[in-house]
Amino acid sequence: MAPIENRYTRLVGIEHPIVQEGLGPFRTPKLAAAVSAAGGLGTVSMPGMPLDLDAGARTFRQHIDECASLTDRPFAVNIPVGVDTNGDVLPFTDVYIRTVLAARAADSGLAGQLRVLTTSAGFPGRYVQLIKDAGMVHQHKVGSTRQAVKSAEAGIDVVIAAGFEMGGHAPSKAVHTFVLVPSITEAVDVPVLLTGGARDGRGLAAALSMGAEGVAMGTRFITTHQNSDWHPAYLQALLDAQEGDDVAFDGVYGPCRGLRNAASRQLLGQQHGADGEVDAVELTRWKIESMQRAQTDGDVEDGLVLTGQVASAIHDLVDVAEFVPAMAEQAAAIIHRLAASLPTIR
Ligand SMILES: Cc1cc2nc3c(=O)[nH]c(=O)nc-3n(C[C@H](O)[C@H](O)[C@H](O)COP(=O)(O)O)c2cc1C
Repeated sequence: MAPIENRYTRLVGIEHPIVQEGLGPFRTPKLAAAVSAAGGLGTVSMPGMPLDLDAGARTFRQHIDECASLTDRPFAVNIPVGVDTNGDVLPFTDVYIRTVLAARAADSGLAGQLRVLTTSAGFPGRYVQLIKDAGMVHQHKVGSTRQAVKSAEAGIDVVIAAGFEMGGHAPSKAVHTFVLVPSITEAVDVPVLLTGGARDGRGLAAALSMGAEGVAMGTRFITTHQNSDWHPAYLQALLDAQEGDDVAFDGVYGPCRGLRNAASRQLLGQQHGADGEVDAVELTRWKIESMQRAQTDGDVEDGLVLTGQVASAIHDLVDVAEFVPAMAEQAAAIIHRLAASLPTIR
């Protein structure tokens, strides 16, 4: 029997309330399948924003099919909601959401597995009904209590509370998990997941005690043997990271956390005006290419290496099949031990 079963595990149909969350614009079908096969929820990530969005949609579809071919367990997709300066949703978001819904509509086997769609970045208001009508569980990642309430009121099924120490794109307000998660769990009735800083059963036990029903991790799952689609130098850079080696710079949708290196220093210089005027569209393209270069070529100095602060506390690659159930066992054991050590409440 799974040691921790709750509203979230039942809603999504998984054993352990442990999620490998979106890691775009990188390749994650093998990793997602490994996490799902281990009893957690793996996520296929968005494949970037190529100029040719039809090609992007085909790549996304291939990644989804690859994941489905490697496990028969449920899995998720993550699609950030990009918005332009007028607040209009960017075409890549629309194309990717419709790609997922069309793939499920055409294949009932896939629809049974690909049950969860996670949005992040901008507010997904116009897609909520579409996702609901397709019968998917809709999770949305937020960085504030106000956004969490807005999401729950809009009918979103699960809120992912994103603390500022998280890897990749972080909330624009720098609120950390210990402050954010209890505020959000007080404010909404839907299941809440903590994302940012978790790495083992202690983080899961802490999340549960703050009222969350699971954790969604990025950095811990990047540093696994099953993440074989990424260049080993990327994984090694995370294992080598020390406290203070990470920094938040201007990413594609607001602040983004990665390692301090030549690429992030260059970006921070531009933010402070050192390099004069830079074309915004060109800069966004450079950022995405630079992130992908780090992942595919292992260029961890001139490429942007996204990671959470928790990399400084991770020193080894783990095996997903052992790690996921052991993490749930560890959390349950901590909770039992703490409860047993307290005087009986009369
Ligand atoms: C390399 C990298 C890429 C990421 N890409 C995405 C993404 O495409 N969409 C998204 O919602 N979150 C993205 N994130 C955030 C993760 O889904 C997750 O919320 C975060 O890593 C949690 O913090 P942790 O790294 O401390 O576990 C990314 C994180 C990293 C480290």
